[in-house]
Amino acid sequence: MCGITACVGDDDVVETVLAGLENLEYRGYDSAGIATLDGDGVSVLKRGGRIGDLSAEAADRGIAGRIGIGHTRWSTHGAPTRENAHPHTDCAGGVAVAHNGIIENHADLRAELSAAGHEFDSETDTEVVPHLIEEALATGDSPEEAFRRAADRLEGSYAVAALIAGHEGVLATRRGSPLVLGVDEEGGRRFLASDVPSFLEFTSRVVYIEDGDVVRIGPDGHEIATADGRPADRDAETVSWSPEDAERDGYDHYMLKEINEQPAALERAIRGRIADDGSVDLADFPSGSFADVSEVHFLACGTSYHAAVYARQLLRDRGVPAHAFSGGEYATTPPPVDEETLVVAVTQSGETADTLASLRSAGRRGARTLAVTNVVGSTAAREADDALFIRAGPEIGVAATKTFSSQVAVLVLLTELLAADVTGSPSDDRDAVLEALGRLPSAVGTVLSESGARLLARRYVDGDDGRFFIGRGVGYPVALEGALKFKEITYEHAEGFAAGELKHGPLALVTPNTPVLAVFTGRHDGKTLNNVQEVRSRGAPVIGVAGEGSDHVANGVDEFLPVPDVHPDLAGVLANVQLQLVSYHVADMLDRSIDKPRNLAKSVTVE
Ligand code: M6R
Repeated sequence: MCGITACVGDDDVVETVLAGLENLEYRGYDSAGIATLDGDGVSVLKRGGRIGDLSAEAADRGIAGRIGIGHTRWSTHGAPTRENAHPHTDCAGGVAVAHNGIIENHADLRAELSAAGHEFDSETDTEVVPHLIEEALATGDSPEEAFRRAADRLEGSYAVAALIAGHEGVLATRRGSPLVLGVDEEGGRRFLASDVPSFLEFTSRVVYIEDGDVVRIGPDGHEIATADGRPADRDAETVSWSPEDAERDGYDHYMLKEINEQPAALERAIRGRIADDGSVDLADFPSGSFADVSEVHFLACGTSYHAAVYARQLLRDRGVPAHAFSGGEYATTPPPVDEETLVVAVTQSGETADTLASLRSAGRRGARTLAVTNVVGSTAAREADDALFIRAGPEIGVAATKTFSSQVAVLVLLTELLAADVTGSPSDDRDAVLEALGRLPSAVGTVLSESGARLLARRYVDGDDGRFFIGRGVGYPVALEGALKFKEITYEHAEGFAAGELKHGPLALVTPNTPVLAVFTGRHDGKTLNNVQEVRSRGAPVIGVAGEGSDHVANGVDEFLPVPDVHPDLAGVLANVQLQLVSYHVADMLDRSIDKPRNLAKSVTVE
């Protein structure tokens, strides 16, 4: 997983390509590079480290060109060195390629190309591509033919952009990895990128490139052809995200900005989706849409998996058989499905390879599929039978925050619709839950303005033996999410557990240096308090997150982080906001790289 970008314009595009890369840095940030078409030749500048370093070096060296590609890398094959950074070139240096994804047959191709005399400089899978293009050019192919012939040899998932000396433009294609085209008619520019925020500051007109398409951007505009070479007429759409949405807006970190955007994101997630009569109104899914569903499988990874577990708990409470599976496991050990199984892929980006592989596996085996995603035009949205959008706006911080809340909000709506369709009548809680959902944005606003998480973080910044997060019911996925967020951005050990599980083993790890963060939702609180006593009696300090009226909780813990009292099915969303803030402030005190944590990237497009 990496970010690729490209631009062709009337003037020098180097700054634009570098800006596009900066906007994609959340996809990978261990090395970066650009290539430009400079006269008839190709110039490449690349290095380990951040894009800021690359930009400074590009300015020093006066790199210029009206046609350019760029790449920001998250290492899969080979360490984050200059040699392994993209763009990669052929033997003669006339072809430069940036790639996102994994070329699974790279070893065979490399052996074949080496035997034909090609020399390789890197350990990457990508480097075979420029050499394949060079090989095809040597047989007399035109640049387009050579590019297409090279792409035909690749197996795996990829989006590839190439510059070829003497060819006035950028050639690109995709199979399984994202690629979008930006159209700036007024400015006479065309863009290619792994994701829309790359060029959002320049244009909001987007064409979603289909798998197998070959696209060329040049000074004269763009052309797209299908896999079999026929011209493809793909309409440009205007995306509703504004450039400001993707800016930091005075906050120290995108993560903090996005935590604070949750009330607005939740408003958008639910706007127009609760009908006047109190029922759910998901326009594309009128009542009865899911009447023939007998079982629901959620597929997701990371934070999205926790939102999926949240929804699973709610559906089971409403009498609908539901399971949540790790996106990375479902395709490996697939459970039986049939046309009555609704498989819901929950994925912010819509591009997570593990989730997509599982979604495809379910679809192939006859299940009905639905993507719940933030990104219109994403692979999940286009490949699933249906899509439901969470409308959270762009999320730049690698740690998912507002998208979790928005996913849960939309899944709550879906849950009520499913419960009514599958069981034949609305759930007993529907009216109360939907009424509470309408008030959730302001309740989140209250948490944000009154949170004591910062002070608490200062007291518990040290936790030599790690931190445990526990919860029950919908508090359980929140505990998992709290721990994931904590480890992801603080680099400190943290684990999330179902509260009742501690006594089955993890309790052995609890010491006075293991702060335990316990999530209370207003359901099963007595049992969770018993588990809290089990850790307190081993000396561990307990921080309870619960409704402000929960005196029994406040009296049974060492520290109390209150949230407004809401319906228990939604209390987990509020508790999660407190936990996000605890993680954020601890990470800030430890001076961590909050928006771009080490070893991680926003969108994981490799299995
Ligand atoms: O785009 P997705 O929701 O499919 O991404 C899934 C995970 O990679 C993602 O949630 C990851 O766990 C986050 N960085 C967690 O903050």
